[in-house]
Amino acid sequence: MKNIKQIINSEKLNIPIEVKAWVKTFRNDRFIAVNDGSTIQNLQLVIDPEKFDENIRKKINTGAALYAKGELKESLGKGQKVEVWVDELEILGESDPEKFPIQPKRHSLEFLREKAHLRPRTTLFGAIMRIRNTLAFAVHQYFQKNNFLYVNTPIITSADAEGAGEMFQVTTLDLQNPPKDETGKIDYKKDFFNTKTNLTVSGQLEAETYAMALGKVYTFGPTFRAENSNTTRHLAEFWMIEPEVAFMDLHGDMDLAEDFSKYIIKEVLHKNREDLEFLEMRLKNEEKQKPQNQRSEMALIEKLEFVLENNFKRLSYTEAIEILKNSKPYKKKKFKFPVEWGVDLQSEHERYLVEKHFKTPVIIYDYPAKIKAFYMRLNDDEKTVRAMDVLFPGIGEIVGGSQREERLDVLLKKMYDLGVDTKELYWYVDTRRFGTAVHSGFGLGFERMVQFVTGMSNIRDVIPYPRFPGNANF
Ligand code: 4AD
Ligand code: MG
Repeated sequence: MKNIKQIINSEKLNIPIEVKAWVKTFRNDRFIAVNDGSTIQNLQLVIDPEKFDENIRKKINTGAALYAKGELKESLGKGQKVEVWVDELEILGESDPEKFPIQPKRHSLEFLREKAHLRPRTTLFGAIMRIRNTLAFAVHQYFQKNNFLYVNTPIITSADAEGAGEMFQVTTLDLQNPPKDETGKIDYKKDFFNTKTNLTVSGQLEAETYAMALGKVYTFGPTFRAENSNTTRHLAEFWMIEPEVAFMDLHGDMDLAEDFSKYIIKEVLHKNREDLEFLEMRLKNEEKQKPQNQRSEMALIEKLEFVLENNFKRLSYTEAIEILKNSKPYKKKKFKFPVEWGVDLQSEHERYLVEKHFKTPVIIYDYPAKIKAFYMRLNDDEKTVRAMDVLFPGIGEIVGGSQREERLDVLLKKMYDLGVDTKELYWYVDTRRFGTAVHSGFGLGFERMVQFVTGMSNIRDVIPYPRFPGNANF
């Protein structure tokens, strides 16, 4: 059986057609718009009210599942090229019109978040999820074309040293009555893994060990952070893509991040035109409600094309601080957080650089060592590390990466200074003992990319079932 996308694009007309889909609308007792998720377009089914009596017609309600058989015809009406003249109609699953929450009208995103199990039935969420799918597939396409190997790093980990964020503990101990050791502390030797374990915040450290054997690898999996950050850019469970490449330095890393980002965005422009056009219309309508000075200068598709056509602006952290110190908002004391060499950039600073100053994606590199993780390669100035963040308009940080510290002595000293347990991470340190080499990688937050491409302002609306503080429903 063909799906609606195939039916609508069918070159042949006047052929028999079967379809199984859900009812969007039913009007004039005659026209049923149905959708099966394969495309943003609905298929119009035309029934003759004389042929289908009241008993079946009253069951053609928004949300109902149906089967129809008929003939594919050129449509005389506006709004669609083809329609199906129905001979046979069967309601597969009824839907009570009084109770089905997804009515053919605009619902607020807040309302839909409460109905996360039904929101994929909306035109909006269909579009978002098809784009998410294109992006996910493009991730694999890009890396496979470029000879990377896909590795699956563990989700449960006993290493809690990465420092990327607060972790969720995984345990089978009886929380009411946990076993204690002689000193009265919880005895994790009695836990499932004979040690304390958490959900991973990043697959990087394990990916590094594989890059140091297989050359070019990438992970694409769920990561978990128990930060209590209730923002439009943070999830407690999100998907991250982490390439790691042996014999590649920070410049190669920046090139890779830029090339990769452009590739996956381009795939969406090719494959999801109609979805993007719908999202663009939606954003335009939303913008109309905003005051003039808060409206974005570019429409969605134009913005994506702009990213493809322009080089990401690269500058050092030190240069970024200079620019910020000379900026209007800084001088007018409009920034909430301090701007000072050595202090991490906040979202407001990143967004100023990307949206106001450069008006293009930006890569900032060579950050102060003190604000970055232990594994980043120390520069000769001994103050900065070979880190890089990619910042996108409307999103802020989308990629965080670095050249890794490959020198055993420097790494050990860094771990010691930062209180990272070298015994626990002996396996990580081993890669520097046996055949160490320059290597680099980064992590791209998948949902932030989906946000950027769809123009959705809240990250909770680009993943099927968002997890955030106070919510693990569904
Ligand atoms: O900058 P982060 O913390 O980098 C790492 O985890 C490194 N180990 C990556 C590497 O070098 N292999 O996270 C990487 C990206 C961020 O730039 C952001 O896009 C995303 O992951 N991210 C989140 N996305 C959604 N919700 C959160 N709570 C996120 N935290 C980070
Ligand atoms: Mg980061």
